Amino acid sequence: MGRKLIYLFFPFLILSALTPTALASPIQPETNPLPLVVWHGLGDSYENEGMKSIAQLAEEVNPGTYVYLIRFGESGTQDRDATFFGNVTAQVEDACQQLASDPIISSAPAINALGFSQGGQFLRAYAQRCNNPPVHNLVTFGSQHNGIASFTMCKDSGDWLCWSVNALLRFGTWSGIAQSGLVPAQYFRDPEEMGDYLEYSNFLADINNERVTKNEKYKENLKKLNKFVMYMFKEDTTVVPKESAHFMEVNATSGEHTKLQDRPIYKEDWLGLKVLDEQARLEFLTIPGRHMQLSGALLKNTFRSYFGPLQSGETEKTPEASFQVQES
Ligand SMILES: *[C@@H]1O[C@H](CO)[C@@H](O)[C@H](O)[C@H]1NC(C)=O
Ligand SMILES: *[C@@H]1O[C@H](CO)[C@@H](O)[C@H](O)[C@H]1NC(C)=O
Repeated sequence: MGRKLIYLFFPFLILSALTPTALASPIQPETNPLPLVVWHGLGDSYENEGMKSIAQLAEEVNPGTYVYLIRFGESGTQDRDATFFGNVTAQVEDACQQLASDPIISSAPAINALGFSQGGQFLRAYAQRCNNPPVHNLVTFGSQHNGIASFTMCKDSGDWLCWSVNALLRFGTWSGIAQSGLVPAQYFRDPEEMGDYLEYSNFLADINNERVTKNEKYKENLKKLNKFVMYMFKEDTTVVPKESAHFMEVNATSGEHTKLQDRPIYKEDWLGLKVLDEQARLEFLTIPGRHMQLSGALLKNTFRSYFGPLQSGETEKTPEASFQVQES
């Protein structure tokens, strides 16, 4: 697995990590920002210019931020392929290992996490399953926390690979092949097919603790988040339903929207979301634009609000509601 260190603006961290006293906590969150771990979306790769400029922006806004982009395989092409093909359970395990074996990340007291689209629910899975080091703030953009009810993830692209995966998915979402090898199938969740979903979903039904036997560790770990920030794109037509970004359930027939707070996952607190919400640590934000239509101004605002160094005793402030930024 090729794991390059992308941004290393604080080489002294490595040096000081070699001394036993520094090993305990080489990163001082009061003065230096926590490392930022980014998981990109479908069809993207760590080598793409967009990802590189996001890493650069994070460092620009909060100087000294060590940015790590989760990646699979030996090249950008393999990394991109892994957004379509693979077993998500194994990918999350791999990500846990990547972070545990990175010298800077593994010696940090905590990390911040930024997930784009499907990368958002996958980083949440990291927090629930591994959380070593623990996630401080988790920020997701246009993610499918409650799954997708329709395979439209390629809608805005002329990407043949995306379309061929979609075509394959239509034939057997619940087949072993799809559930172990086609990534979007593993977070497919149609409220009209709950039986099949609960029986066959390799990823989402488990990570959302929807099966009878609950995994208490998921709840314990997620409750440790300082903030869980969920952005939804107002004009998102790629993610169906777009409200999945806010953990809502949508009945496609009646058009009825059920807010997270009215769903059993919250009311019976299968994931600790109720606890987080009651402590004002859940944020549901809506931004203009279509899926992943992100502006530099919005990202800067986000990085400043959630990924900056913590002053002792201070908590982050929600970014100003005025997100009427120019769409790029
Ligand atoms: C997916 O990967 C996990 C972890 O490697 C493995 O235990 C599981 O059997 C795999 N699932 C399928 C459906 O192949
Ligand atoms: C969705 O709404 C339709 C029409 O009201 C209803 O028949 C159906 O049972 C609902 N589906 C779910 C999963 O609640």
